[in-house]
Amino acid sequence: MRIIAIETSCDETSISLIEARSGMKNPQFKILKNLVASQIKIHKPFGGVVPSLAKREHLKNLPILFNKILKPKTYNLKPDLIAVTVGPGLEPALWTGINFAKELAKKWNKPLIGVSHLEGHLYSNLLKPNTYNSKLNILFPAIALIVSGGHTILLLMKNLINYKKLGETRDDAVGEAFDKVARILSLPYPGGPEIEKLAKTGNPEAIQLPRPMINQKNYDFSFSGLKTAVLYYLRDNKNIKIEDIAAGFQRAAFDVLISKTLRAAKEFKAKSILISGGVASNNYLRNYLKLRIKLSSASSRSSPKLKIDLLIPPKKFCQDNAAMIAAAAYIDYLQKKEHRLIARGNLTL
Ligand code: KG4
Ligand code: ZN
Repeated sequence: MRIIAIETSCDETSISLIEARSGMKNPQFKILKNLVASQIKIHKPFGGVVPSLAKREHLKNLPILFNKILKPKTYNLKPDLIAVTVGPGLEPALWTGINFAKELAKKWNKPLIGVSHLEGHLYSNLLKPNTYNSKLNILFPAIALIVSGGHTILLLMKNLINYKKLGETRDDAVGEAFDKVARILSLPYPGGPEIEKLAKTGNPEAIQLPRPMINQKNYDFSFSGLKTAVLYYLRDNKNIKIEDIAAGFQRAAFDVLISKTLRAAKEFKAKSILISGGVASNNYLRNYLKLRIKLSSASSRSSPKLKIDLLIPPKKFCQDNAAMIAAAAYIDYLQKKEHRLIARGNLTL
């Protein structure tokens, strides 16, 4: 089936056209088009996303992207299904996508379903860049970590559709902490990539920063104390290398994410770990996690061996995009699961 999906939950306008096949046992996707119009330049002078500007830009970008999707006319549109993100996100931004999708559904007389942005991130793990994936790449049970600007959630997945939240952040999301620390260091928005770049030349062990909640038995997270620790460190110390702060903060944040993820994987005897969301595009996280899994699988009598698959989507599917919304829409459609077609800023998993 052919799906057109629309994503406008934050500061990226995205429309995708994908083909989906094979049903729940082995959902497969072929991405025909995945267009993203970034608004970074618009929001940069304000140091963060301005909802009214995001709405204005989505309204401007949606028809432009849609016309590009239609061309060349080799794709015999109409699609079989239209999908749109209904939340979580900025409500004025979400509404632009919902209203646009409603018009398309009316014009083509095709079904329209509302999709959770978080399930989009979760199912981005099913996407391959160009062709159909051959067999289901996820072994269950799986531990899934969603790390974005608004969320930090750890899930236990029994299979593709049965999952349970093990924990989440109690205050700032990890991406939000990157953005706030970047602001403290006078780096531009969005902060995540800036911190990653700076950290490359810093020493992650030069300064000691806290690893909040790392030793607590639960699977919740907290990042606002780590951000405040950076603030106090800067206030109380002179001759600081800002690269060391970036590297130290990044390592501290990832130590907590990785420790809890690996502990959950051991406790629930997971066969795979899935990471998704904007922060998952961070190379240091991708490599550090691989290393920690390797060290853990080699490890000793004291803790059980971890033999596990690691899945991280290509970077373009970690950041907000409509292809992941189309993938989630296919799973929802097969299950006859629907979200109401209204913007829900606080929608959760
Ligand atoms: O998933 P996403 O594109 O949007 C939301 O759903 O929030 O994630 C955006 C977040 C921002 O906080 C951004 O700073 C962070 O992901 N991010 C990164 C990197 N690239 C984006 N954080 C750390 N390192 C990166 N390379
Ligand atoms: Zn997102």
